[in-house]
Amino acid sequence: MTTHIEEGRLGDRTIERIVFDEDSVRRRVRQLAGEITEAYGPTDRLLVIGLLKGSFLFMADLVREIQHPLQVDFLIASSYGDATESSGDVRILYDASTSFEGRSVLLVEDIVDSGVTLDRLIPRLLARGPKSLEVCALLHKRVRPMRYEPRWVGFDAPNEFLVGYGLDHAEDFRHLPYIASL
Ligand code: PRP
Repeated sequence: MTTHIEEGRLGDRTIERIVFDEDSVRRRVRQLAGEITEAYGPTDRLLVIGLLKGSFLFMADLVREIQHPLQVDFLIASSYGDATESSGDVRILYDASTSFEGRSVLLVEDIVDSGVTLDRLIPRLLARGPKSLEVCALLHKRVRPMRYEPRWVGFDAPNEFLVGYGLDHAEDFRHLPYIASL
């Protein structure tokens, strides 16, 4: 069954169902921000790095709820669907200009799908000398064990094609305030 839930936002495109509605997302983001606030102490110089483009809404909502001084920066990394074990050849298409040296870095990701992006990116970021490096992912499909599991996960996600709240299909649907399946 296809759904025209909000004609204005969807135009002539259709979604299958809403998987996480706007209220559930808002509540969970607030909880995550609370846990993140608790996890960092006064000496932590928190640097929140958003992995674009998918994390842009989650990142914006999350940092507004974190009660700790922080700075933000962004990265764009290429994703390789069927990559090998190597962690050295992730392509960073746009890099953060802020130094990671001595910083408590929190990497914000919209979704962990195959896990390849994080498994490849994290060793590269650890090499930059942060005091700590943690990941907060809104969604996690848990399709396989990962070398670096995110410390914070918003929701375990069904193995469906998800869009909305930053996630796209051919660049569409990113602006939906909820997460839906196609
Ligand atoms: C998506 C998503 C994650 C990555 C997860 O990014 O935002 O970054 O794929 O997939 P993986 O766990 O299988 O590596 P994408 O490359 O589609 O770019 P986008 O953020 O611009 O949508």
